[in-house]
Amino acid sequence: MEIALQGKNALITGGAAGIGRVCAQLLGNSGARVAVCDIDLDGANETVAPLAGGLAVRCDVSDPKQVEDMAQTVLSAFGGVDILVNNAGIISFKRGINGITIEEWDKVLSVNLRGPFLVCRQFVEQMKERRYGRIVNFSSMAARVGGIEVGIHYAASKAGLIAFTKTLAKELGPYGINVNTVAPGFTETTPVKTQLAGREERFIAPIPLGRLGDPMDTAKTVLFLVSSLSDYITGQIIDINGGQYMG
Ligand SMILES: NC(=O)c1ccc[n+]([C@@H]2O[C@H](COP(=O)([O-])OP(=O)(O)OC[C@H]3O[C@@H](n4cnc5c(N)ncnc54)[C@H](O)[C@@H]3O)[C@@H](O)[C@H]2O)c1
Repeated sequence: MEIALQGKNALITGGAAGIGRVCAQLLGNSGARVAVCDIDLDGANETVAPLAGGLAVRCDVSDPKQVEDMAQTVLSAFGGVDILVNNAGIISFKRGINGITIEEWDKVLSVNLRGPFLVCRQFVEQMKERRYGRIVNFSSMAARVGGIEVGIHYAASKAGLIAFTKTLAKELGPYGINVNTVAPGFTETTPVKTQLAGREERFIAPIPLGRLGDPMDTAKTVLFLVSSLSDYITGQIIDINGGQYMG
């Protein structure tokens, strides 16, 4: 069975790099019209360049006014958004509870947790009117087992997204809107590769499938969650970690 997203409009936050970029390209290559928003507009433009009808918008997802303006731009260009992928996030590494400043705590919580709250608010009403929507949030293995290499602020932000997802899934299910969360383990994007450099074997050892994650591993799961193959799945946390944590 082919997964086809023809006629669907998708927004991927933080799609200028890493997992978000691969998600945008996979959804676009599967037939969706794709918008990418990011603080890095050049990177967002590069992501959508090969995609027919793609749109790149500069937006800091933690800023309510920027999110409102971004939503207006995307909705007026596309006429509606069927698929929302809340991927934008800051990965922040472990320094101990007293090694993290209050400003860092607020920054990570505001991008990783307030961001999806602000973005969802802008798009759910039109999804409700159309009685169709697919929302995918980005948690982390850190929320499932406690941070391994990441900081307590990061793990807490990603744990918050699990309750956020379940609560929103209950609210929006009656309107035909599915809300799920992916929870990747160590995945080879720039911040993670930089952090683990020279120590990779130690992080691969506890993974039954014997390798770190590739961004495409998560993107393929996102594609499943935004397609008709997952019509009866909502409020779930899908772990993508090579078996390191088995819920
Ligand atoms: N890579 C991993 O091992 C891993 C594991 C678990 C979860 N995740 C989650 O996956 C998502 C993507 O991570 P990644 O590894 O691709 O990271 P990345 O740093 O490669 O990409 C993150 C993207 O988000 C953008 N971004 C950052 N702050 C933003 C803001 N305020 N507004 C809009 N865009 C912003 C960045 O510019 C970048 O393009 C994040 O939510 C991350 O927490 C990653």
